[in-house]
Amino acid sequence: MNKPCPYGTHRVISPVGVLPQAADVLDNTMICQDNEILIDVQTLNIDSASFTQIKNATNKDEEAMKQMIMEIVKKRGKMQNPVTGSGGMLLGRIKQIGKNLHRDLKVGDKIVTLVSLSLTPLKIKAIKALHMEKDQVDIDGQAILFETGIYAKIPSDLSEHLVLSALDVAGAPAQVAKLVKKGDSVLILGAGGKSGVLCAYQARKNAGPTGKIIGLLSNPGKLEDLKSLNVCDEIIIVDARDPMTVYHEVLRVNNNQKVDVTINCVNVPNTEMTSILLTKPTGTVYFFSMATSFTKAALGAEGIASEAVMIIGNGYTAGHAELALNLLRESKPLFDLFVKRYEPKE
Ligand SMILES: NC(=O)c1ccc[n+]([C@@H]2O[C@H](COP(=O)([O-])OP(=O)(O)OC[C@H]3O[C@@H](n4cnc5c(N)ncnc54)[C@H](OP(=O)(O)O)[C@@H]3O)[C@@H](O)[C@H]2O)c1
Repeated sequence: MNKPCPYGTHRVISPVGVLPQAADVLDNTMICQDNEILIDVQTLNIDSASFTQIKNATNKDEEAMKQMIMEIVKKRGKMQNPVTGSGGMLLGRIKQIGKNLHRDLKVGDKIVTLVSLSLTPLKIKAIKALHMEKDQVDIDGQAILFETGIYAKIPSDLSEHLVLSALDVAGAPAQVAKLVKKGDSVLILGAGGKSGVLCAYQARKNAGPTGKIIGLLSNPGKLEDLKSLNVCDEIIIVDARDPMTVYHEVLRVNNNQKVDVTINCVNVPNTEMTSILLTKPTGTVYFFSMATSFTKAALGAEGIASEAVMIIGNGYTAGHAELALNLLRESKPLFDLFVKRYEPKE
């Protein structure tokens, strides 16, 4: 292994010269270097776009899904889906801290990583359980966090399951908090999903009573969940991949107007045009979805002469973890929804 680097380049096997996220293969030897943290991993929270791709590629066959995950990690030394390019994050316990690292951590602490699995060296001995509805897998394995890798300790007032699930998408509501202004109209695609409900709640907070929050669902399956939060003025049920149908639906419920801000929280490809088409030319589109194509967004916007600002959904923004957890603390309906979806059933 090369000289330890803060960004983890010492673990890049190929191609030479890139940072770990862009690498095809990482060295996942589980020997903790002086600037690394070694973690005993309990659960992987696989990114929704990646998990959905794996589900679809295996016809939802659990054994085939487990095998596919094992193969990706064996081949790449990290859980980075080769089709979506995305990763996820993990929950685990600190096993060892490199001697050059001085952190507010000790061996035995439980943490969730706030950097993507797509750059995290990982070794899986066995998959213990696959949780189809939560995009999570319990494993027996280990991972390495680099010197620049951020993490969150499990707070005493929230369960590790809720923390793992919420922090996976913490970047989304934190960006909404920056983007949505009082009185804005906001369209949320995938509003019933994990990031969607957090964004809908945060959008309501920012836009206030004079704003308008429109939640889009692909089917009625999550309608009652979204309604229970009482944050959307309108909920429309339509496939986000169908731009013209969404166009007519949004104009119908929004006084024939496009919206100021669109937040894309879906987990399937081909929703760029819908996001752009429904946003005012002076508005903002936030693409949190990992299934977003730069080419489709850029050429789509040009094609309808829209100069809406388009933002790539950076998973990190300062204070994002605390903001996401505070939403669960302040909203009982949101907390209850997360408990229903992400706490293990007895
Ligand atoms: N930028 C980042 O750093 C980052 C970090 C984490 C995750 N992500 C990405 O953010 C996105 C959302 O993640 P999540 O964890 O919130 O996922 P999630 O809980 O699985 O939610 C995704 C939602 O999209 C909906 N959806 C799927 N197809 C649709 C369609 N054709 N039309 C309308 N809605 C549709 C799903 O509805 P149904 O279930 O009813 O189909 C689901 O509610 C994913 O693409 C994920 O990869 C990005």
